[in-house]
Amino acid sequence: MCGIVGYQGREGARDILIEALRRLEYRGYDSAGIAIWNNGTVRLARRQGKVSDLAEAIGDDGFNGSMGLAHTRWATHGVPSERNAHPHKAADITVVHNGIIENYLELKETLKEEGHTFTSDTDTEVIPHLIASLLSKAGSFEGAVRAALRMLKGSYAVGVIREGEDILIAAKKESPLLVGIGDKEFIIASDAPAIINRTNRFIFLEDDDIAVIQKGTLRITNLDGDEVERETRSVQWSGAMAEKGGYRHFMLKEIFEQPRAISDTLIGRIQQEEGEILFEELDLPDITKVRKIWMVACGTSYHACLIGKHIFEANLRIPVETDIASEFRYRDPILGKDDLVILVSQSGETADTIAAMKEAKKRRLHTLAICNVLGSTLSRECHSVIYTHAGPEIGVASTKAFTTQVCVFFMLMLYLGKRLGALDNDDVRRLIGELRKVPHKIQTILDASSSIEDNARENMHYRHFLYLGRGINFPTVLEGALKLKEISYIHAEAYAAGEMKHGPIALIDENMPIVFVSPRDQTYKKTCSNMEEVLARKGKVLLFTDDTRHDMAGRVDALFVVPESIYELQPILSIVPLQLMAYYMANLLGTDVDQPRNLAKSVTVE
Ligand code: F6R
Repeated sequence: MCGIVGYQGREGARDILIEALRRLEYRGYDSAGIAIWNNGTVRLARRQGKVSDLAEAIGDDGFNGSMGLAHTRWATHGVPSERNAHPHKAADITVVHNGIIENYLELKETLKEEGHTFTSDTDTEVIPHLIASLLSKAGSFEGAVRAALRMLKGSYAVGVIREGEDILIAAKKESPLLVGIGDKEFIIASDAPAIINRTNRFIFLEDDDIAVIQKGTLRITNLDGDEVERETRSVQWSGAMAEKGGYRHFMLKEIFEQPRAISDTLIGRIQQEEGEILFEELDLPDITKVRKIWMVACGTSYHACLIGKHIFEANLRIPVETDIASEFRYRDPILGKDDLVILVSQSGETADTIAAMKEAKKRRLHTLAICNVLGSTLSRECHSVIYTHAGPEIGVASTKAFTTQVCVFFMLMLYLGKRLGALDNDDVRRLIGELRKVPHKIQTILDASSSIEDNARENMHYRHFLYLGRGINFPTVLEGALKLKEISYIHAEAYAAGEMKHGPIALIDENMPIVFVSPRDQTYKKTCSNMEEVLARKGKVLLFTDDTRHDMAGRVDALFVVPESIYELQPILSIVPLQLMAYYMANLLGTDVDQPRNLAKSVTVE
């Protein structure tokens, strides 16, 4: 997830752009860059590291002008480095980009044949080359940008300038972009917080919009060149709220970002028509020889592994062993010579997970990381890596990292299933179809978040909660209970529902709410029986299900219905109301939600 910003106006662009980059840094930063247009020429500066490094590098020596573009990068294609940093320039065209161009390899090949030379590993660099190559045929800068955008597959928010033309063009598809309207100036940005210090009037561009800013005027057209009307909106946010995109906490923002985070994780990897999953970055040994797969991680990432095990075993029929990284590293696990070890980590810096990876490597096993931070230790040191494209996760409690990790496990299962002959093209097509519906389904849960907040208000005074689920939703309740305890400090314990009778049932009375996750899957009837047992002991049942006609509806204390999905994907939906419930309880109790006591975002020590 990168941040982009562009300026055209009467004042010097440099300070405005640098200040906006500083405000965008929370979106992720491994490098930053700026391009300034001054009397028809464009100067570029890029640096690996923080925005402050870039600001220092450009100094004061006349690096200024009336128009410019800037970018803060969170790498997805190509390691963090100066040459991969944006803006990217080809001939007289300069571009900043946020998003992922799915067909960049194809475009790059064609452009190379035309004689274009590439200097970075990014998908973005094809955009300025493409625009430059289309200029003479299109007849105008704007025409060339429009023609290029029509050829791009994937997602983009772009800002484009050209030497010699006092025009700033901005366009978007599936990545956010807005135009801020200031006093005789226009500023484009990935989000409002970046520029809230200069204006609170915004036009939120829609997919396929192209905004052309020229000599103090703004014109918005669609990809066919027809003008479109967009409403100007005013937002009233405090500075702190603006950084969090108007949300009270990063955690809430990140919960609400899940539809986008999942879409970004799927982009460029699913080919539904072909029934194929593309993992360009993956370089696995002969998978038919693998006798056992290990999934190893800590905390929330470990819960994603527990779900991964269900997804893999149900479809691939390969034994999967899950392990907590701090156990794996010391217990001398019995590893077969062809076993595959998958290590999962949002940060890629968790000490125990890194130690587990080293242990597996010492035993000469292939290690595969599922990781959210490009260039992190785990992603660098494993043999292969698949990135979740969740964007930076700032709230200490992990939310969007978890759901994107489960999506990666699902895609990896499809990928391996094809190679092992366990799934055919039709199976993969159908399952991709289900996966693609997930972001929209999550959105419908988020749209109903106020009912979860009401429920949280009613129940926040309880000091102990029990979470119960079965099958693939046992890990879901483990994760739900972890969310509640870590941010609200309410004691929450999770069990496989079948285990209730073997001990925890002794705790149940009218002061113990029990959270059940009970979709209509193969475990449904059994979980209903567990609910009966709880109700018989005057326990309070909060039920999360995908079944509007659940057998227990009307008898439980609260019922929340999530959309239906297939067994393997149901946890991604069921966890969202549990994340929200934990968040709302903590917020109502007034805890420090984003930085709960005693916890750190990245546990780099043992
Ligand atoms: C819980 C949480 C932690 C992390 C764990 C592993 O909300 O965030 O349990 O999941 O510390 O961190 P990563 O995934 O960065 O290895």
